[in-house]
Order: sequence, then structure tokens, then C-alpha cells
Amino acid sequence: MEVKGLILSGGAGTRLRPITHTRAKQLVPVAGKPVLFYGIEAMAAAGIREIGIITGDTSAEIEAAVGDGAAFGVKATYIPQSAPLGLAHAVLTAEAFLGDSPFCMYLGDNLLRDGVAGFVDRFREGSADAMILLQHVPNPSEYGVAELADDGSVHRLVEKPKEPRSDLALVGVYLFTPAVFEAAKALEPSWRGELEITDAIQGMVDRGLRVEPHVVTGWWKDTGQLADMLEANRLVLDAIDPDVQGTVVDSKIEGRVVIQAGATVERCHIRGPVVICAGATVRDAYIGPYSAISEDAHVERAEMEHAILLERSSIIGIDTRIEDSLIGADCRITRSDAIRSANRLLVGDGSRIEIL
Ligand code: G1P
Repeated sequence: MEVKGLILSGGAGTRLRPITHTRAKQLVPVAGKPVLFYGIEAMAAAGIREIGIITGDTSAEIEAAVGDGAAFGVKATYIPQSAPLGLAHAVLTAEAFLGDSPFCMYLGDNLLRDGVAGFVDRFREGSADAMILLQHVPNPSEYGVAELADDGSVHRLVEKPKEPRSDLALVGVYLFTPAVFEAAKALEPSWRGELEITDAIQGMVDRGLRVEPHVVTGWWKDTGQLADMLEANRLVLDAIDPDVQGTVVDSKIEGRVVIQAGATVERCHIRGPVVICAGATVRDAYIGPYSAISEDAHVERAEMEHAILLERSSIIGIDTRIEDSLIGADCRITRSDAIRSANRLLVGDGSRIEIL
């Protein structure tokens, strides 16, 4: 039977402010590509052709980025959610779209190294009512947590427990049969006022339905915060293949570096893994490992490493290396020519700046 896809791409992205004041968190690029695209590509690679995309306040932006889905080889249908009332609420919102198909639900800010094809195949072939993916984490209380019984079956699921009974976090990818709807309809809002998918799955377990757990071994990242974003960028860049299409003049390129067509690199030292996107210009600069420079950005007489620079932003004439940073779109970071030694800042709400 055909498995449909459901990608959740609403949510305010409060933990990624200020970047998310002006863009959907799912569209922040990792290694030069919006996080959301990795999820859509993973679904397409699993043979899923029809994808519903749940959207919130940023729906126009998400629709503009993904379009009809043809670029990914899928058919995208947009499903607006009235308010961010939880993942189980999103599932119920999509009930008409999903109909009686089994489906793969994917949280649009999650990234999995190994994609979802293996799990979707196993689900298609098996007879489980739901399949959940789990991973051992050091900070389980920040996630939904699963407790397994001695025979490996799911015993109990708790959303963000203060005292977690295991270190197995629920990864943001789930496989469901339509049996999930009944469990979701029976829910009451949690302490955070949301209908929790974790509770709906617990409801399925309580009804005696088969919920199959799988522990994911490849890396998994929920890119909800700056540190996660930089780590996801690092993990994705670690696996890129070198590909230099842009113009490179008098430069030293080391390791795995992608320079897209239309990018210009002059008198630089680039040490991969690094991605420099189309239209970017980099001159007289050092770009160190795990840097991603987005479209039309500009770096000149500066050094950066382990940092993400978004569209049209520039870093010019800065002596100290910029590291561990996420710089939004349309920013300008320059040297002041003032005679007095002082920092001059025009910084958006919720920004964080560390000055040496
Ligand atoms: C959500 C789920 C949680 C899961 C996590 C994975 O958390 O509620 O169970 O572990 O995604 O990314 P949220 O992002 O809503 O805090």
C-alpha cells in the first residue's frame, strides 16, 4: 500500500531567534540547504510520492521554497494548522489528506544521517500499527522518552519527563497506520497546552496495538537551537563530496570543498569541509572547516571557521577569526574606522553577540 508523507513545518522557532524573526526555522540552511529540504529528499528517497506539509504562520515562505514538490520528485499538498496546538493536533488536521493510507510523519527541523528509507521499507513489509525511532541521548528530559520492556517492546512513553526512566529519546520521525487518529482524538492537552504525539502513541500501546521501536544508530539532530544548528552543519559537511564549479583565482583549496557555479574565490585559503554557494564572493580570506557561506554573501579580509553566514551578508576587514557563529541574512560586519576604540552595533531583537 502506498505510504504518504506528512512533514510538520509550522512552529514559531523561538529557540532560534533572532534568525526566526524573519524566516521559518525549517528554512535555515544547513550546509547551504534548508533543513526542510533534507526531510523532503529523505521521503522521496524512501519512495514516498505524496507529501502533506503542515504549515503555520510561515506558510507563504514554506510554499515559496518547496513549490509543488516537483523539484524533489514529489507532490506537495499544503495543510495549514489553525494554531500550533501540538504534533497530534497536526496529525488530526491532516486526517482528510491522509485518508486510510499508512504514513510517515517527519518533523521538519529534524535531520537523520541515514534518512528514512530503511524504516519505511520495514514498515511496509511488517504488520506494526506504528513504528517509532529512538536514540540514546545524554539529555533525555528535553525529548519524548521511551521505556522499553525486557522483551524490547514499548512499555511507556513520556513527553519531556523531569525524571526520565531511560535515555532513549523519540526521534522526530514516526510511521503510523490510520489507527493513530482514534488515539489522537482521545487526548487532552498536556501541561504545555499541546496534543502530544507521544501521548497518542502511548494510547496506541494502551489499546494493545503494535508499536514497534527501532533504535537509530546513524546521527540524528533536532535543529531547534543554535548549537544544534552548528552541529548539524558540521555533520552534513562531514559527508560532502568536493565539487568546485565556481571561479577560483590564486587560492589554496584543501580537503572537501564545494564551490557552486557563480561563486568567486580570490586569494583565499579554504580548508574543507566547506560549502560556498552560488553568487557568494570570498576574497583575501581564510575559510576554515565546517563553514557554510550562503548565496550572494561576501567575505573579504576576514577569517571564519565553524560558522554559517546566510544570504547577502558580509564580513569585511575583521582581524579576529569569527567562529561558532550563525549570522543571519542581510547583515554587515565591518571594521569601524572611528578613532575612538569602541564597538558600534545595530542588532536585532534576541541577538547574542560575544565581543573579545
Ligand atoms: C518533539 C516531540 C518529542 C521529540 C522531539 C524530537 O519535541 O514532542 O517527543 O522527542 O520533537 O525532535 P518538540 O520539538 O515539540 O519540543
